[in-house]
Amino acid sequence: MSSLEDLRSRLDLAGQSHLLRFWPELSADQRSRFVTELSQLDPAELRAHCRAAAEAASRDSSSEQRLDQRMEPVPAEFIGGVKRSDKETLCEWENEGLLQISQNKVAVLLLAGGQGTRLGVSYPKGMYDVGLPSCKTLYHIQAERIRKVQQLAEQKHGSKCTVPWYIMTSEFTLAPTESFFKENDYFNLDKSDVIMFEQRMIPAVSFDGKVILENKSKIAMAPDGNGGLYRALTENKILQDMDRRGIQYVHVYCVDNILVKLADPVFIGFCVRKGADCGAKVVEKAFPEEPVGVVCRVDGVYQVAEYSEVSPEVARQRGPTGDLVYGAGNICNHFFTLDFLKTISEKSEKMLKQHVAIKKVPYVDDEGNLIKPDKPNGIKMEKFVFDVFQFSSNFVAFEVLREEEFSPLKNADTAVNDTPSTARRSLLSQHYHWVLAAGAGFLDSQNRKLHPKPRLADNEDPPAICEISPLVSYFGEGLQMLLKGKELKSPFILDEKTAEQLKDQ
Ligand code: UD1
Repeated sequence: MSSLEDLRSRLDLAGQSHLLRFWPELSADQRSRFVTELSQLDPAELRAHCRAAAEAASRDSSSEQRLDQRMEPVPAEFIGGVKRSDKETLCEWENEGLLQISQNKVAVLLLAGGQGTRLGVSYPKGMYDVGLPSCKTLYHIQAERIRKVQQLAEQKHGSKCTVPWYIMTSEFTLAPTESFFKENDYFNLDKSDVIMFEQRMIPAVSFDGKVILENKSKIAMAPDGNGGLYRALTENKILQDMDRRGIQYVHVYCVDNILVKLADPVFIGFCVRKGADCGAKVVEKAFPEEPVGVVCRVDGVYQVAEYSEVSPEVARQRGPTGDLVYGAGNICNHFFTLDFLKTISEKSEKMLKQHVAIKKVPYVDDEGNLIKPDKPNGIKMEKFVFDVFQFSSNFVAFEVLREEEFSPLKNADTAVNDTPSTARRSLLSQHYHWVLAAGAGFLDSQNRKLHPKPRLADNEDPPAICEISPLVSYFGEGLQMLLKGKELKSPFILDEKTAEQLKDQ
């Protein structure tokens, strides 16, 4: 451990000697923890980080960050997808994906280091229960989809297989995520196939380039963005772990989409067949102001332009068919080959852009008072997971249907969009449609037939409540033989036990 003098001179070197201004007031315990925290910061790196943050903030006006002049849409013919392909082709891709899964070549990687500030809960988003009849959390649903996709690959290709689940957490989310998984017995997955690792935290900086003190003995730290993934993969030896297991393809996704298809065989198969090293799933943007990034080309290379980087005028542009010109909404579902991840993590990670977020960062003032600012006072620097698209030698985009694959949980129920209610409704509507497609109908609580509604309006609740366990069906498959011709009483929960009973009927 560094001596105090040593620490002082390192902080001087970094231009951050103010961090020790409350030193005389600290207890022995606080001093020891603070020294540990500070000694982890490399002076040269810290100096560069603070300078870069202050410079970026001085340049940061939203108009300057805009990419309007440098953007062009991805030509339609370069986007593969569900709407654009016939059943046979989709089936081929699915088989290809299942084959790769059955050969233990596919892993999923969850980005779960974010703080979920907009949702406003103090625990990781994956632990959120949106109020489904089964009370399952997002983590629970995801774990079951992994189990099911393993089973489907096994059935199709006759070999037992594993899809390892890598989970990137941060200082905020690691401990609660770990204990949640332990309490739930890893949702019946093998513990050794659930691999949690931590991304880095970096200091938040004031507009004049000084690291912010959160309290007298702690600096304000924030995760380094979901693009911190690439550094974390190397630092935690995750790529070696993947190598050891024979993984070749990785499906990276974000935590909050209740409809996410983990290790989606169709997407994996599509990317593999196209020989892609890097791919992104997109949905058609719902409306110009929707807060999603768009996949496009910037200065000729593939990139995601975040919603804050595109002006409202450009976001509203429509082409001759009336579709949004920049309509390829990024749903944070990416495909990478392991080789691509290795190249990025070893060579290009340092070149990734630092995005500037101007935030309200709680701090301690010169008198030692803890202040919760009411206007932004600090800079957080973040890397974005998709900023590696520019290094791809064969990038592909794959369009899927929103109602089938995208309903993110971003906000609390006080908002209109992307809330627990909208996420719950999306899942229940999907399952309602699966049941109708399987040839079954619904009865209300008084056993009266409910008129089927194959089309629901936006934000309309399905007339019957039906939740299907991912362990029974991953994406609507296998339901016909269980449900055809049956009349199901709402609310109807189809879990493994009920499925067994239905088989016997
Ligand atoms: C993200 C995408 C956006 C896309 C939208 C779709 C990024 C940078 N932006 O936006 O283009 O349209 O999802 O829903 O990917 N995370 C970490 N570590 C961090 C920060 C975030 O692991 O330091 C994780 C979060 O836990 C989450 C995911 O990254 O799972 C996305 O982060 P979030 O902040 O929710 O991104 P959005 O702004 O919603």
